[in-house]
Amino acid sequence: MILVTHAHDDHLGDTVEIAKRTGAKVLVTSEIADYLSAKGVEVEEGHIGGTFEFPFGIVKIFPAVHGSSTKEGTLGIACSFIIKIDGSVLYHAGDTALFGDMRLISEEFDIDVAMLPIGGRYTMGVDDAVRAEKFLMARTVIPMHYNTWEGIVADPRDFCRKVKETVGKGCAVLGPGETLEV
Ligand code: NI
Repeated sequence: MILVTHAHDDHLGDTVEIAKRTGAKVLVTSEIADYLSAKGVEVEEGHIGGTFEFPFGIVKIFPAVHGSSTKEGTLGIACSFIIKIDGSVLYHAGDTALFGDMRLISEEFDIDVAMLPIGGRYTMGVDDAVRAEKFLMARTVIPMHYNTWEGIVADPRDFCRKVKETVGKGCAVLGPGETLEV
């Protein structure tokens, strides 16, 4: 299954091609689901607040403060995901600004790993992502959405140092293709 947080090109990207090649279903919010369905992709549709139970685990859709447009127009609003598999909980924040209701996510879920954007300009930067981790209290955070182009330059080691110093939680910088076991 493919989970897509919003329609921006660096996220929706080549979802259609990958879904058709692999036969994976795509879990998305309604507006993106309509867009993908029209292109012949099999979707699992819901919206923010919704919980899904699958054989592999549980997915719940949470808010993100961000847009969700393609060149053809706006497709709903952005979201983030909680994914619970075999008792382990991952929070993928998608692209988002800091928002206080992240506290509600950690009220409900004991988060093992949180993936947080740190690139600034379009999302949280390093300092707001550290504040987000104060709300989320994930055991380990993974910085994402930085240094892929000059507009979103950030130092992931600086982020990890601040997380450890101010929140006392773990932090892992992952390169493309690398994996983390927690
Ligand atoms: Ni985006």
